[in-house]
Amino acid sequence: MQVLVIGNGGREHAILLALKKSKRVEKLYCMKGNAGTAQIAQNVDVDYMNAEAVKKFALEHPEIDYYVVAPDDPLAMGLVDELEAIGKRCFGPRKNAAIIEASKAFSKNLMQKYGIPTAESRTFDSYDKALEYVREKGAPIVLKADGLALGKGVLVCEDLKQAEEGLKEIMLDKSFGAAGNVVVVEEYMRGLKYNPGEEVSVLSFTDGKTIVPMITSCDHKRANDRDKGLNTGGMGTFSPCPFWTEELEKEVLEKIMVPTMNAMNAEGRTFKGCLYFGLMRTDKGMKVVEYNSRFGDPETQVVLPMLKTDLLDIFEAVTDGRLSDIKIEWEDGACVCVVLASGGYPLSYAKGKEITVGDVGDCDIIHAGTAIKDGKLVTSGGRVLGVVAKGKTLDIARRKAYQAAENIHFENKHFRTDIGNKYKNG
Ligand code: AMP
Ligand code: GLY
Repeated sequence: MQVLVIGNGGREHAILLALKKSKRVEKLYCMKGNAGTAQIAQNVDVDYMNAEAVKKFALEHPEIDYYVVAPDDPLAMGLVDELEAIGKRCFGPRKNAAIIEASKAFSKNLMQKYGIPTAESRTFDSYDKALEYVREKGAPIVLKADGLALGKGVLVCEDLKQAEEGLKEIMLDKSFGAAGNVVVVEEYMRGLKYNPGEEVSVLSFTDGKTIVPMITSCDHKRANDRDKGLNTGGMGTFSPCPFWTEELEKEVLEKIMVPTMNAMNAEGRTFKGCLYFGLMRTDKGMKVVEYNSRFGDPETQVVLPMLKTDLLDIFEAVTDGRLSDIKIEWEDGACVCVVLASGGYPLSYAKGKEITVGDVGDCDIIHAGTAIKDGKLVTSGGRVLGVVAKGKTLDIARRKAYQAAENIHFENKHFRTDIGNKYKNG
């Protein structure tokens, strides 16, 4: 089969690496891709946010059998619907299901309506009413812009002054654009043992009838060690989550995952694809922080390397609605991804810095923001590379990843030194 993956980042590189292991894959493409995807796939220079251009390309290339739409924007735009309308087979939810990520107001309402545990919240389209509610509730409190905001539309406010300023920023100054026309004001959730809260990412495969959790992982959103600094798209991940247990998995499946799948069906919005549950272990049980309608980035970089089952077999089973027929198996051990970023990220940073890669052992180097310029590998984004290492234990995997990270060089390289240290005592 010939398979095309849509997207440009580390997640897409990781999906391609997993697909490359499939015996049935004959050729891979990436639209648009980066310097890393170009090593294993043919990069296709078409703007994937232009549905007409994507469809034109697809019609001109009948030899491509299957499409994987990985990022949130094209999913929210309905690219899967567009491709299906011209007879293409795809992995990813349709537009009416991708809303579970694209609108926080929708997902909070869904959880309330179907009794899925999450932080208490209210949704406002009026600044004055939102301000009144924030003052009534007091701090700490969490403000979320309704729409997609590159993972940056969430403000966790420690005091009332911060909350008032944040509300103004979202709703009046429109710092996140139209995403801030509607705001969700949410109760601050406390972790059971650690604060700020204990988070775990549970990605799942679902065809709308069956839902199967993948191996768990933990993200590191802040730019600097010990969770200091600004929120980023993710500075590193590890798998599995140390506090995860069979009991927790049972609780999450029964109270969160299956009810979410059923709720989407009941709303006439059957979700087929990868449904991502951002969860928190709180003093009142597991709760949903957010849903994503797609594979997480950089979670995918540590989840897919642990997959023993053929990824293309799973994708096709999801498309065809026969996921229950497939046994999905995971490796023992652990996996770590350390992100190497451009100094300054997530604020302004330089691009075009030459990258040299020395001895990285058996680590996978996942490209996120890279390009080839004058025949040289250079930086082209905030998050540049992910160093992915597997090991029998988390400590072994960490050590391997950090050793390799030291042997990769570019000007102003920045990375966290504490990836994988969270929740060590379960
Ligand atoms: P989100 O984009 O919804 O994942 O939110 C970004 C981050 O903000 C999460 O990963 C949490 O660390 C934090 N956060 C979001 N909602 C809450 C909440 N209700 N209580 C505490 N922390 C939260
Ligand atoms: N790592 C979080 C996300 O993909 O949204």
